[in-house]
Amino acid sequence: MLNITTSTLAERPELIGQVWDMPDTWDEFMDHDPIAEALFGPVVQQFRQLGVVATDADDSIVAHGTAMAFCLDCDGRRALPDKGWDQALMWAHRDLALGVEPDTACALEVSIHTDWLGRGLSHVMFGAIRDAARTAGFGTLLAPVRPSGKHLEPDVDMDEYARRTRSDGLPVDPWLRVHTRLGGVIEQIAPASQTVTGSLDQWREWTGIDFSETGPVYVPGALAPVHCLASQNVAVYVEPNVWMRHDLT
Ligand SMILES: CC(C)(COP(=O)(O)OP(=O)(O)OC[C@H]1O[C@@H](n2cnc3c(N)ncnc32)[C@H](O)[C@@H]1OP(=O)(O)O)[C@@H](O)C(=O)NCCC(=O)NCCS
Repeated sequence: MLNITTSTLAERPELIGQVWDMPDTWDEFMDHDPIAEALFGPVVQQFRQLGVVATDADDSIVAHGTAMAFCLDCDGRRALPDKGWDQALMWAHRDLALGVEPDTACALEVSIHTDWLGRGLSHVMFGAIRDAARTAGFGTLLAPVRPSGKHLEPDVDMDEYARRTRSDGLPVDPWLRVHTRLGGVIEQIAPASQTVTGSLDQWREWTGIDFSETGPVYVPGALAPVHCLASQNVAVYVEPNVWMRHDLT
């Protein structure tokens, strides 16, 4: 039994400034998606009722989860976007700026404190996001999911990877399995969900890898190869994700 308490950030607003101080396993290069750099903080601040935090018996943060909302049933949208995570964040930002009423919640991340990995907290945290979205009145929760085992097979096509199942019918991938157990259904692949570009020096700094030859570079934690263009002094990572839909009704 996990001795933790989950709350929304609307219930614990004093924790908002602290959630990212928690040690986690995100790779440095993932901090350099420019859409995330520009929009993530301001957007999630606005959706405190959808953000969740878990605290232990000492009230220390052990996990957090982020969600937001946008209008999907609007002109030019309706289909789930190929640019997954980035597009969802841009829609939420645009809707906030223009005062468009959201109709769909969308989870952006779950992070577990490094000391608390492997203890079932991810189920608890995504369940808390589902509960928060339902309480806020949403009937659907989307998620551009980053399968947690995909980095081990960066050359495998994401569609093939995501549809691999075990003998019990559940996804082979652990994080897709968590979603499925909680009621999520795989809808489609978001082939260009997040994009990170940088000079070769920037990539060296982010990864410790010697980016010097044109071609694929295998970066630990990346779900697909990073493309290095040495003559242009640039490398590009395009992360595929998996759109999952949770019906909350
Ligand atoms: C992905 C993540 C949220 C999983 O959290 P977690 O609390 O450690 O996972 P849990 O203990 O709840 O386990 C979930 C499932 O993964 C499996 N699992 C856990 N650690 C694993 C590992 N190292 N290797 C393989 N499977 C693993 C568990 O067996 C479980 O499967 P089950 O439901 O069939 O029993 C966590 O690793 C994390 O914070 N990663 C970095 C951020 C990230 O990528 N977030 C997800 C995208 S937003």
